Amino acid sequence: MSRAKRKLEHIQHAISTGQDKTHGLDDITFVHQSLPNTSVNEIDLQTSIGELSISSPIFINAMTGGGGEQTRKVNRLLSEVAKECGLGMAVGSQMSAIKDPGERYTYEVVREVNPTGVLFANLGSEATVDNALSAIDMIEANGIQIHLNVIQELAMPEGERNFSGALSRIEKIVNSVQVPVIVKEVGFGLSTETAYQLRNIGVSILDIGGFGGTNFARIENNRSNRRLDFFDEWGITTAASIAEVSNLTRPIPIISSGGLQDALDIAKSIALGASAAAFAGVFLKILLQEGQEKLVEHIDQMKADLKYIMTALGTRSINELQKSPVIIKGETFHWLNQRGID
Ligand code: FNR
Repeated sequence: MSRAKRKLEHIQHAISTGQDKTHGLDDITFVHQSLPNTSVNEIDLQTSIGELSISSPIFINAMTGGGGEQTRKVNRLLSEVAKECGLGMAVGSQMSAIKDPGERYTYEVVREVNPTGVLFANLGSEATVDNALSAIDMIEANGIQIHLNVIQELAMPEGERNFSGALSRIEKIVNSVQVPVIVKEVGFGLSTETAYQLRNIGVSILDIGGFGGTNFARIENNRSNRRLDFFDEWGITTAASIAEVSNLTRPIPIISSGGLQDALDIAKSIALGASAAAFAGVFLKILLQEGQEKLVEHIDQMKADLKYIMTALGTRSINELQKSPVIIKGETFHWLNQRGID
């Protein structure tokens, strides 16, 4: 099957399989404050993620790989939304355009549409330094995401079976590119151990890509004969993964992702230690089923809601929200307890 056809199938399955919403964030509760001493109009959503500074903590995560007209169209629509709403955005894997330069235009469109926005390039951990440089150059990227998707590959009949050498390839990229390197999971979550390895080779930012949203094990199993259905429930939830990674003694900036739906999910993610929150499946579904205008409305609403939540908590900035106390119950509590994370 061609890469473009497989990616199209991913879009269809991601929308029909939908979101698990088992991201663990329902185990998190804020502590109500009756005297917050804040006003909605003084809330500032500006955030810093390592050296990147951006006016909103909301990101559009990587979704459009594979090349072809459909990729270009979705990339154009999403980058118009990113520009209008002032969001950062990652493109999907650019490997197709590296293998076939005739496909570059399907990604270049994001920079044409949004000349000054924060844009991330995207490749898998098989990428070489040359691949990374070319992906960054293609969209004049402000950072590059390297995705880790072992479970997805294993669940794909035509997927990769050899995962050796990924860490040293990522290290070479870190040492050779001029922009921050973001390593991301795609819905199975990053652990403390993985985060530690990645931070030690100089990775700048981690997108934890937790379990509980788009589920690529289920998508791949649904596309094939469901042989590996034991992977359907595999992974670290988004809530547990943020806590796992913020548990490092030397911190690393975190982007929360994996099943995020609304402003409360963003606020809880930030209170657990994230600096930003990235959305994939939900945004794609709204875009393709309800249209671009509805997606813009949805994002504007989330920003307004986030300001209300921050007002109620008495936190004027993302930095203050990160320090807001939370109560952790249920499976997330037990997970953190057994992992010795407070
Ligand atoms: C993705 N995702 C993804 N990630 C990546 O790093 N490179 C890619 O090319 C893609 N492609 C892709 C296609 C489609 C259709 C979807 C829905 C997702 C993964 C995505 O960025 C994210 O990590 C996961 O989808 C989890 O987030 P959500 O969907 O639960 O918000």
